[in-house]
Amino acid sequence: MNEHDSERMKGMLETLGYAEVPEPDQADLILFNTCSIRESADSRFIAHLGHAKRHKRNNPDVLIGVGGCWAQSVKDEVFQRFPFVDVAFGPGQIHKLAEFLTSDSLTAQGFFEFEDFPAQLPTKRARDLHAWLQISVGCNMKCSYCIVPSTRGRESSRPFDGLVEEVTRLAADGVREVTLLGQNVNAYGRDLRPQRRTFAELLHAVDAVDGIERIRYTSPHPQDMKEDVVLAHRDLAGVCPHMHLPLQSGSSRILKAMRRTYSRERYLDRVALIREHVPDTSLTTDIIVGFPGETEEDFQQTLEVCEEVGYDSAFTFVFSPRRGTEAAEMTEGLVPHPVKIERMERLVEVVQRRATERAQRFVGRTLDVLVEGPSRNDPTKLRGRSPHNKVVNFTGVATPGDIVPVHITAATSQTLAGEASLLATASAR
Ligand code: 5AD
Ligand code: SF4
Repeated sequence: MNEHDSERMKGMLETLGYAEVPEPDQADLILFNTCSIRESADSRFIAHLGHAKRHKRNNPDVLIGVGGCWAQSVKDEVFQRFPFVDVAFGPGQIHKLAEFLTSDSLTAQGFFEFEDFPAQLPTKRARDLHAWLQISVGCNMKCSYCIVPSTRGRESSRPFDGLVEEVTRLAADGVREVTLLGQNVNAYGRDLRPQRRTFAELLHAVDAVDGIERIRYTSPHPQDMKEDVVLAHRDLAGVCPHMHLPLQSGSSRILKAMRRTYSRERYLDRVALIREHVPDTSLTTDIIVGFPGETEEDFQQTLEVCEEVGYDSAFTFVFSPRRGTEAAEMTEGLVPHPVKIERMERLVEVVQRRATERAQRFVGRTLDVLVEGPSRNDPTKLRGRSPHNKVVNFTGVATPGDIVPVHITAATSQTLAGEASLLATASAR
């Protein structure tokens, strides 16, 4: 979501006549788009801000802007703590940046209102073939560790027809893959009036747009993962065989303290439903270790779920107390840092071992790979992505944007290796 917000900030600045410079020291405007999901992001940002301050000391006309969730979480305090900041705005107020830059106001300004779905903004896409499509803003869940509901506000779905129109426009502009974005994508449409919509309906409508070959989305909430969405994966050619289903913990007791609204059994039941209808689908997840009160036994249960599900990959996080959240106030059973690190290492071992095992199912198969460019480690090879969202490094000749069949010869936990089939190589030439 944050990356997409950056694309919108860039698009807006471009329409105002700004262009990017290679180094911040050459800039007239330094704009930070901040994330606050974990403390490490905050700390990195504060260090960058110090650099900008020094630059401004020598170049007083330079403007410094701070947008995003960190700005929203501290609001006007930003101007007291960092008086050299000229403009600050939350993630829902990106459009106000243009207002500020085009006004002749010399005083610092902050924009932190929550609105319904904000007006369309011009976007500068990082990749020509891929577009993010924000389908909703905000989140109505109350996960006790999470700062997002306080920085992005209440959930509001973007109107259905407008979304389909935008996808149609993107397809005409050459986009082949879209990623639908929301904090809880499968809650999409419940708040729309006069006609409610469902996330599965949206998948059908986007799949019907000519030119869109791959549809991804992030993130669904396990509570709202219903059969209609699973069947959309089975029945719609464009919906990729990949689902990111955040687990957070494998212990029902901890899930309850996290206010995740599902138990271990209910989560595994969702996984069984997915595997029943679309057995080949990649499953990825998010896991937090060291939540307050997590005992060794709770952690063992997380390991057990990872063993049982066999994720294709997982993002693993050490619990980070966030200001204003319920979990930040918890004082019982705090997990010491070395224990968190030790659990993290054990978790990563299980995740990677199972991911490597799962990835072997691709060896010997031919997968359609959307070519992105040269391989990062070996420029004589190409790199692309399979429908399962696996990075594939392969030999052959193809142009970025092509979808080529690649014969998979080897698989690790993270990447697949293969050869473009001869037919594709010939046609690409
Ligand atoms: N501490 C650690 N991880 C967190 N996440 C969200 N909030 C926190 C926190 N306070 C993780 C969750 C979420 C992902 C985007 O970030 O796993 O799914
Ligand atoms: Fe945060 Fe939970 Fe909402 Fe995800 S669903 S953004 S973890 S509150």
